[in-house]
Amino acid sequence: MKTKIISAANQKGGVGKTTTLVNLGAELARKRKVLVIDLDPQGNCSKTLTGQRDFKFEDTVAALFDKPKVVSIVDLIQPAKLNGNSIENLYVAPADVQLSRVIETSLTKINRERILEKQLAKLGDTYDFILLDTPPNLSLTTLNAIQASDLILIPVDSGAFSLDGISPLLEAVSEIKDDEGNYLILRNEVDSRNAIINEFIDEELEVVQDKLLPVSVRRSEHVGQANAVSSPVRFYKSGSLVNNDYRKLAAFLLNLM
Ligand SMILES: Nc1ncnc2c1ncn2[C@@H]1O[C@H](COP(=O)(O)OP(=O)(O)OP(=O)(O)O)[C@@H](O)[C@H]1O
Ligand SMILES: [Mg+2]
Repeated sequence: MKTKIISAANQKGGVGKTTTLVNLGAELARKRKVLVIDLDPQGNCSKTLTGQRDFKFEDTVAALFDKPKVVSIVDLIQPAKLNGNSIENLYVAPADVQLSRVIETSLTKINRERILEKQLAKLGDTYDFILLDTPPNLSLTTLNAIQASDLILIPVDSGAFSLDGISPLLEAVSEIKDDEGNYLILRNEVDSRNAIINEFIDEELEVVQDKLLPVSVRRSEHVGQANAVSSPVRFYKSGSLVNNDYRKLAAFLLNLM
């Protein structure tokens, strides 16, 4: 299988980029080999997938962006872990706060938006899926992710959603990629009891109907609980309804790509 690269992006914070990628990764890993790359200095998906909070600089994505000619992505990849045990088929290249300084100093590098794409080429088709977690801004690592991606997944929450909010991201996508069709919007934290808000969001999304994923992710307390113990929901409460949503999302993407 040719590697499929998917990033989660939305410059709005807290919409579920990290949570979605982690849980999508865990579901895809049931059948496929999956690598999650953390491109966010907040390091949230690194914490969940390693149980670790701090990393040696040379073990992180920061080293890669700092010295792309010397450091290889291959050197950063480690098995994802749960309570110290490796999770089958799931791997992570971590990041932490050290990445923010490197992003600033990389702004003068030539071809800086293609650093990641070039590195991923080194992996050949080792992984079936590579999932990229991006920060809540259009910084250098986000642009690298867009450049390298086959598909950009845009989670939107059920709060004050507006299409205006994601238009800078969509502009960046169409500027970087020739093919403008490679993004899909995912409704996250959907509460079916909240009819008025749902109707409002449906109206707002009408103009991008063809970009809206037919699968959405419900709001569930199990998501926060699983995050709190650094676990994908799949291992925390496999029977949870929200995990069915992640499973359906994984099945849809497996079928699509
Ligand atoms: N489906 C869900 N149900 C309940 N809580 C959720 C759900 N999805 C995400 N959350 C919660 O929302 C918060 C933000 O999620 P997350 O960190 O994934 O967002 P993010 O977009 O990655 O944020 P940032 O922009 O800071 O990186 C977390 O506390 C997470 O537990
Ligand atoms: Mg995040």
